[in-house]
Amino acid sequence: MNYSELGLVNTVDMFADAIRRHYAVPAFNFYNMETLSAILAAAREKRSPVMLAVSESALKYMGGDMLVGMILGANIKPAEQIALHLDHGGGVDVCAQAIELGFSSVMIDASKLPFDENIDITRQVVKLAHARNVSVEAELGVLAGIEDETTASEYSNYTNPADVEKFVQATGIDSLAIAIGTSHGAYKRKSEGEELRFDILADVAARLPGFPLVLHGASSIPQDLVKIINDFGGNMPGARGIDVAQLRRATQMNVCKINVDSDLRLAFTAALRQSLSEKSENFNPREFLGAAKKLMTVIAGDEIENIMGSAGKLNSDNFCL
Ligand code: G3H
Ligand code: 13P
Ligand code: ZN
Repeated sequence: MNYSELGLVNTVDMFADAIRRHYAVPAFNFYNMETLSAILAAAREKRSPVMLAVSESALKYMGGDMLVGMILGANIKPAEQIALHLDHGGGVDVCAQAIELGFSSVMIDASKLPFDENIDITRQVVKLAHARNVSVEAELGVLAGIEDETTASEYSNYTNPADVEKFVQATGIDSLAIAIGTSHGAYKRKSEGEELRFDILADVAARLPGFPLVLHGASSIPQDLVKIINDFGGNMPGARGIDVAQLRRATQMNVCKINVDSDLRLAFTAALRQSLSEKSENFNPREFLGAAKKLMTVIAGDEIENIMGSAGKLNSDNFCL
């Protein structure tokens, strides 16, 4: 299926507008009806463009047909500026599968391979994606943390600014994910004061003027959610995220896509634990899943407003509403 039949758009216009007006398009991960509904409700309520991100493991979990069925059921219109994005595609085959299903954007993540191999695989994906007008994100540098159910890296490896021009030119990608100190998962920083490497970001942005940059591993890990989880039987001591002010600063430096998965996982888990614990006689999943959906909608809406700066950005001449 072509993504336009699903009402989706690729990332070209949304990133151009985000770069021009200094905000980031949120990319929230989803893996079931509740997460999808919450992200869409928040984006629609805040009039924000949004990327619906699906990891390889989430694709397997939902199954391609079920996933497309849910997207169809969401009645998406092009004016809403919603992209369906493969997150951390591990090879050409899964990117091709996503494009066939109706994704409008794919990430090929060959960042753990040597530079030339990363270029080679990324080029292959760009060739087949651009033939269908699908956008491509790739990555230089490695983030620490759990990236996928099957992939984890203990150490980070910052992006080398000297590599970026050659990589972008040789591959023809539409956006570049960089490693400047963010990491996947809920345990990102050892101390409050830790700073992202804004020197690397500034160098990359200067070498790629006007080019869309992406931050992965950018959850802020709201402490009120961690507290609810721990208060209601969870065990997440020391969970800590990226400082919100630093994320906002990054949006002023050509970072036009910010990836968030863990924050909505926390919201889901917090609401579930609290709901089940406070009403222990309940065995109706619609009640506790409903509570989870509600809290995820609030958190996604709050981040759209206060981190991404993308609230109200659909009210632009760029998006022919
Ligand atoms: O960075 C990627 C996401 O956090 C995906 O995680 O493979 O468990 O869906 P997942
Ligand atoms: P978090 O674990 O910080 O939410 O990162 C998500 C992400 O980068 C998905 O690609
Ligand atoms: Zn990621």
